[in-house]
Amino acid sequence: MKPSDPLSLPESLLLRLQDSKHVLVLTGAGMSAESGIATFRDAQTGLWARFRPEELATPQAFAAHPARVWSWYEERRHTVREAEPHAGHVALVEMEKMVPRLSIVTQNVDALHQRSGSGSVIELHGNIMRSICHLTSRPIDEEWLENSPDCPPRSPWARDGLARPDVVWFGESLPAEAMNSAMNAAVNCDFCFSIGTTSLVQPAASLPLLAVENGAILIEINPQETPLSLHANHCLRTSASEALTALLHQWKTRVQDHKPGAG
Ligand code: APR
Repeated sequence: MKPSDPLSLPESLLLRLQDSKHVLVLTGAGMSAESGIATFRDAQTGLWARFRPEELATPQAFAAHPARVWSWYEERRHTVREAEPHAGHVALVEMEKMVPRLSIVTQNVDALHQRSGSGSVIELHGNIMRSICHLTSRPIDEEWLENSPDCPPRSPWARDGLARPDVVWFGESLPAEAMNSAMNAAVNCDFCFSIGTTSLVQPAASLPLLAVENGAILIEINPQETPLSLHANHCLRTSASEALTALLHQWKTRVQDHKPGAG
């Protein structure tokens, strides 16, 4: 590939990637966009362009309008069930085989990384397919939900409890264990990708900066500039599937060309 190719990584950075011991991949809604799941902040198509977060994704909204909030999540769960991982998800699975360690930290709640076969996935904002009791936070299984006539279903764990999605709403704390693992990965990685996130929502947005402060190379994959772009060693300004498949190809080609005896 020519150095001017917008899809290729400069040779020096490719070498660093090839030699890295721990790669951290932070993903946001843009990673799932090509699987047909709407982003949050993209003008026109983003979920928050059509709905007000405070009316749907807050504990206060759930307390005031539980049926409305539950129904909105039911609709999103339907979209997630219909969605399939794309070539970018698959490329990440392949990349995991090429380095000693690759950790994915995702803000997405759709589990598409796990479904595509990625082994080490940290869910920072929960998982939309799981439900918990809104009073005790104990998990509620699918069978219980399916047999419930109520909207939202009543919780089996507390008298006044209701089922709610196991996601982090605005104003709630992130799961401590996931956040600790993510920070550990950021401090210890030597190469970091930030893919498909506006880098506006904390604390996820600060993870790539933590990686850079601790000496990692940072690559951003996003068709748009973000506040993180300034800190990146290189930005691939295209979609996640296009950038990751091109990168995987470039990486594999380099490994092939530099095998002993390859000439
Ligand atoms: N490939 C890569 N990036 C893309 C693509 C694509 N095909 N399509 C859009 N993007 C980029 C957009 O340019 C934008 O920067 O993905 C980003 C999506 O941004 P957001 O919608 O803000 O999503 P995200 O950053 O993940 O939001 C963080 O906010 O509301 C909360 O909890 C929600 O996890 C979410 C968090």
